[in-house]
Amino acid sequence: MKKMIVALITVTFFAGVACAADVIEMKRGVSFNHKKHVEIIKDCKKCHENAEGGKIAGFGKDMAHKKACKDCHAEMKQGPTSCKGCHTK
Ligand code: HEC
Ligand code: HEC
Ligand code: HEC
Repeated sequence: MKKMIVALITVTFFAGVACAADVIEMKRGVSFNHKKHVEIIKDCKKCHENAEGGKIAGFGKDMAHKKACKDCHAEMKQGPTSCKGCHTK
């Protein structure tokens, strides 16, 4: 049990350090609340190749409008799927 708590604290600590920005500003006024997504999704590997995270190779419009963003909102029936839901300009 003690070991598990230590492991959990370590994970939380590194997640906090690894991800500097809580909100990542993207093109055309998309504010991606990384922190909030991490709290809800929890598993880094849902979006990243590994648990360290970082830049996503090839990230841009095509990915965002499919698996990197919109597909998950559609699947979970949560989060915006309309242009204006993501883009503020
Ligand atoms: C819902 C999807 C999602 C989840 C879950 C997620 N991330 Fe990210 N993360 C992203 C996106 C999108 C970017 C921006 C990628 C880019 O610009 O190439 C990003 C960027 C990052 C960056 C780069 C820092 C920056 O400010 O540019 C780090 C580090 C990172 N994530 C770590 C993590 C870690 C660690 C976890 C798990 C605790 C995690 N992420 C969970 C989507 C996610
Ligand atoms: C693996 C699933 C998943 C992925 C991938 C994902 N989201 Fe979300 N997103 C959610 C969920 C679940 C919510 C609902 C959160 C809430 O309303 O409390 C949400 C909510 C949002 C919201 C509205 C609420 C807020 O706090 O900002 C925006 C905007 C958003 N997502 C943008 C994005 C963008 C941009 C990407 C890609 C870079 C992305 N999401 C990727 C699951 C995901
Ligand atoms: C789930 C969130 C989401 C939805 C819904 C969405 N987008 Fe996007 N869109 C993004 C993200 C994230 C990017 C990539 C931003 C980046 O590369 O920084 C993007 C990129 C774009 C770009 C390219 C911007 C550039 O300068 O390269 C255009 C144009 C665009 N979206 C238009 C639309 C239109 C029109 C709709 C509705 C049919 C739409 N988007 C729906 C999140 C979304």
